Amino acid sequence: MSVSPLPDRALLRCQVAGTGAWLPERVLTNADLEKMVETNDEWIVSRTGIRERRLAAKEEHTSTMGARAAAAALEAAGVAASEVEMILCATITPDMPFPCTACLIQKEIGASRAFCFDLEAACTGYIYGLEVGRRFIESGAYKTVLVVASDKLSSITDWKDRNTCVLFGDGASAALLRPSTGAREILSASLGASGEQAGLLYMPGGGAQHPASAKTVEQGLHFLKMNGREVYKHAVVNMARASEEAIARAGFKPTDIAWIIPHQANLRIIQGLAERLELGMERCVVNLDRYGNISAASAGIALHEAVCDGRLKKGDLLLLVAFGAGLTWGAAVLRW
Ligand code: UT7
Repeated sequence: MSVSPLPDRALLRCQVAGTGAWLPERVLTNADLEKMVETNDEWIVSRTGIRERRLAAKEEHTSTMGARAAAAALEAAGVAASEVEMILCATITPDMPFPCTACLIQKEIGASRAFCFDLEAACTGYIYGLEVGRRFIESGAYKTVLVVASDKLSSITDWKDRNTCVLFGDGASAALLRPSTGAREILSASLGASGEQAGLLYMPGGGAQHPASAKTVEQGLHFLKMNGREVYKHAVVNMARASEEAIARAGFKPTDIAWIIPHQANLRIIQGLAERLELGMERCVVNLDRYGNISAASAGIALHEAVCDGRLKKGDLLLLVAFGAGLTWGAAVLRW
């Protein structure tokens, strides 16, 4: 029996070989929200920076949005779906409790060779996903890993709660990971979590603790709940700490970073982070004004847009950083 030799582990490095994103067509503006809840454009823009967000149509789901983003990432990398060995989907809004959304994406794109699983790290999902995928590539066991981050937050939004309904949107992003063949590489990451703060951002209903019933629906337990003010306090501190750690692990200092590609929850949080890192806002990729917060998908959509509009130059150091329910947080440094 002939067995292929083990790869030289010291040489194994991982790169993002292609990115993709997909956003639904329907736009919900702040003016539209003014007709739905007691809010106004001035409050939303000054407190968050958000002007509009996208909402999925009835027939668009986390899996179908994720599949479109995945197909775009495969095309960008010039890789066929049949070559994909692993699909990881980061989401907090799976199509259904099981099977996993990654399996539904596999079917949709025809990646029948891949094994599939979901990862739940809320808004940090894209970065957790990149780090998990990177380790599978670096182990030498796999060469083609698809990380998809997709969320349909409109499906768990309480459209009567002005504290949350103005913040979120729907969409998907994807990254195709392959062994690095040149300078482009995922260099480092720093991930963290604190279950102590689980109650600050969560959806209580529909799990094993509060299975769906007429009562849970009546009590509104199937909607996202957030203590925004408290979440805000933890956001900047933990994102800055994770960023500093990831940058140091890669052997650099914050001023070496060409682009910060952050989770898109609130412009004030991004400004606070840039300040802490002593970097100007002109180095931050921001799209929350157009899409709001799309949880796991946000950072990946921002990366994809920056790739497509030509902002990223070969060799640029990128800092991807996010924060979300769990609480979870994470940062990754990439050489582009
Ligand atoms: O992606 C996962 C992580 N999530 C986050 O990072 C979110 C972090 N938190 C935030 O971004 C901010 O805390 C919010 C945008 C959610 C809220 O901004 P804030 O400056 O912290 O406002 P607040 O919650 O302290 O509320 C200020 C006031 C309140 O009124 P009172 O109690 O002071 O009279 C709210 O009732 O603003 C009121 N308010 C609104 N007013 C108009 C809350 N939502 C609205 C609204 N329109 N949509």
